[in-house]
Amino acid sequence: MLDLDPADAIVAALWREATTSRASVTQLLRAYFREVELKPRQQKRIKQLLHRVLASRARIDAALEDAAPAGIVESLEGAVRVLTSRVLDGNLATTEAKRKLAWIDWERVANFESRLAQIDDPLRRVEILGSFPRWLARRIVERFGDEADAVATALAGDAPRTIRVNTLQCSVEQCIASLERDGITVRRTEMATASLEVLGPSQLFRTWAFQHGWFELQDEASQLVAELVAPPPGGLVVDACAGAGGKTLAIAAAMGGRGTLVALDVSASRLEELRRRAKRAGVRNLRVFRIQADAWTDEVEALLARADRVLVDAPCSGLGSLRRNPDMRDRLFADEREVERLQTIQIDLCTRVASRLAPKSRLIYATCTVLPDENQRVVERVLAADPMLDVVRVAEILGSERASKFSDASGTVLETFPHRHPCDGFFAAVLRKRSSEASADTDEAEGREVGPS
Ligand SMILES: C[S@@+](CC[C@H](N)C(=O)[O-])C[C@H]1O[C@@H](n2cnc3c(N)ncnc32)[C@H](O)[C@@H]1O
Repeated sequence: MLDLDPADAIVAALWREATTSRASVTQLLRAYFREVELKPRQQKRIKQLLHRVLASRARIDAALEDAAPAGIVESLEGAVRVLTSRVLDGNLATTEAKRKLAWIDWERVANFESRLAQIDDPLRRVEILGSFPRWLARRIVERFGDEADAVATALAGDAPRTIRVNTLQCSVEQCIASLERDGITVRRTEMATASLEVLGPSQLFRTWAFQHGWFELQDEASQLVAELVAPPPGGLVVDACAGAGGKTLAIAAAMGGRGTLVALDVSASRLEELRRRAKRAGVRNLRVFRIQADAWTDEVEALLARADRVLVDAPCSGLGSLRRNPDMRDRLFADEREVERLQTIQIDLCTRVASRLAPKSRLIYATCTVLPDENQRVVERVLAADPMLDVVRVAEILGSERASKFSDASGTVLETFPHRHPCDGFFAAVLRKRSSEASADTDEAEGREVGPS
């Protein structure tokens, strides 16, 4: 038996389950914490460590090459992985690791970074840094060039903990004060208007503010996407892929209880979760419909035709939020063809929505991925299919100064990257249906370019 710390032993056991069970890591952890009573601090440590071990799979394998006798890794897989991950991250001394497991050359493991830096092949480095399959490493190197190592490292790292203050219930200042009374330290972030980064400790869900619907956990880029919807006063907004409602609730706050918000999704369980969250958040102008993927009812058709804004937060590979779901590596990225399958759905959803839009209405297309095939290429295809669509620059909607923080110099689309921004990797473009009188060279018309990526 190895003399593992209690948290390391738990992670070693959970690692085995996570790599063999069909349940997601989030589900596994939830079930484990229901069964075994642990302090929030211990839960946080276990979750972080398990995420690190899963996200560092290739790095751990490569670090153990020539550092462990053949056979030992296989026989003690979970435990060896946990110890290796901690040594690689610098939070377990090699002497301590040696005391627990003597047959591994821990000095060699600890020096792995210098061996990694000597690998000339950028594909191999990205494969290891991100624990990515080769096809994904290739796409990342193609897209990011010299920044590919930083992208892969960031996608295998820790995600920031960010909340959105629910301005339907309180001001940002009131929420900060309430959290501070409960001992939670937060700080304002720089991009989204009601976003706070949680610095610690982590018992967020026990706070008075959470129990009274004053905030939601939400990545800052996801909040920015909702801000891009910019509902007109008293307007009709449709969230066509609402899921459990992260963005729906943020849009509801922006609407301030006026107008009508409609949430659609194909998943009954996610919509159920959305209803529950909306109630807690005090949202009253929301209607929720479960829809079929390929056939909309007359009621849904009529809503789309009357909508001022339709958000299509499309199903995507989720690469930009991989840090929150490290086991997605096995699910979504097992097969390169998945990206093409998703792209087909994304184009289909957008072109169908766009064809229903009334003049001057807007379609906001969003994903949480950094792959151009799911982002710029989709928008290009949607624009090509409908000559009455223009791109509205995000700088026009949110102002040039703000947009410069999450857009390129032209301010055309929203793009965030975990290695550059303190949030997940998101993309969003806003398309507007031109009125038949407005031609491409009138003031009303915008460009039809979405940038080079
Ligand atoms: C990226 S998730 C949405 C996340 C959600 N908007 C949020 O902010 O929390 C994509 C959602 O699209 C839904 N979906 C998949 N195919 C769909 C379709 N054809 N029509 C509508 N929703 C669909 C999925 O069930 C999933 O909830």
